[in-house]
Amino acid sequence: MRIKGKEYRTIWYENNVVKIIDQTKLPHHFVIKDLRTIKDAVNAIKTMEVRGAPLIGGTAAYGIVLAIQENNNLDFIKKSSEELVNSRPTAINLQWAVHRMNNKLSFVKSNELLEVALKEAKLICDEDVKFCEDIGLNGFKIIKEIYNKSNKTVNILTHCNAGWLATIDWGTATSPIYHAHQKGIPVHVWVDETRPRNQGANLTSYELNEENIPNTIIADNTGGILMQRGEVDMCIVGTDRTLSTGDVCNKIGTYLKALAAYDNNIPFYVALPSSTIDWDIKDFKDIPIEERNPEELSYIEGKDENNNIKKVLIYPETSRSMNLAFDITPSKYVTGLITEKGICEASTEGLKKMFNK
Ligand code: MRU
Repeated sequence: MRIKGKEYRTIWYENNVVKIIDQTKLPHHFVIKDLRTIKDAVNAIKTMEVRGAPLIGGTAAYGIVLAIQENNNLDFIKKSSEELVNSRPTAINLQWAVHRMNNKLSFVKSNELLEVALKEAKLICDEDVKFCEDIGLNGFKIIKEIYNKSNKTVNILTHCNAGWLATIDWGTATSPIYHAHQKGIPVHVWVDETRPRNQGANLTSYELNEENIPNTIIADNTGGILMQRGEVDMCIVGTDRTLSTGDVCNKIGTYLKALAAYDNNIPFYVALPSSTIDWDIKDFKDIPIEERNPEELSYIEGKDENNNIKKVLIYPETSRSMNLAFDITPSKYVTGLITEKGICEASTEGLKKMFNK
């Protein structure tokens, strides 16, 4: 997708260096950052310079490449793999990518490790682009159907950032929106701000602006009344881990939006590539829910009147806060899962049938 008219992916490899867009600097500064070591890759995931389940997976894959460049030794690769897997707990793509890389590297001669790893990391990223593009083509049909019935701008609500910045390109939740826009269907996106890190305001709105897609940022609690007023035609969100039961783990606040959509009879879709499906865990209570530093709530960062980025405390100094990063939306509130293979019911049967499991 484009920034200032130029096509980018969120991650690429050039001259022995992994390049990323530093998402902690958006929306005020567009900064491309170099990752040169495994430590850089782990740090980029931990500090959310890269974030979003598919992009975390892509970064982990390239993290293994950086580890091999640093030290072409199996023990070092194993230790680096563990560090990557432990860098963030909830998005399943991280483990998935690290396991896939390690499987590919087993039985490879040491002088060929780098070449094989590089090829696999690139394949993981290229596949993600194709999957996200196909998610878009499948999800586009739903938007088109709504438009054909109403002949009016389709209002779509989304939460967090499940756009191209969260993937390698296209995005998951935004891909159907980009396809609809490109095919001339008028769309408008209600963008949940997504406290505490404001991925909706800082990233989703930013990337939609760059593609000229009309959007409006709303406080996280506004979706309910918009739904009651008939100003939301559908919701599309992404996911960090979807269980084979169809239960969906996504950014904190997704569940409440799904409840409001259910109460107002508004379709609530979840868009995901198959790399985000956890086929092992059956009970959503077993999903590790990331708890991040409470300072992400109590401090807020922004641009002051002199264009300097500042961080300020917004809570009473003596108050405690807590920062759970994800919640679970039970499958009964999910209208359908939009995947690269097609749209299926959020259920064991639906997923099994779609993925021949
Ligand atoms: O904490 P983040 O920013 O990595 O979380 C990302 C999300 O929860 C997104 O909403 C997204 O749906 C999952 S990635 C496409």
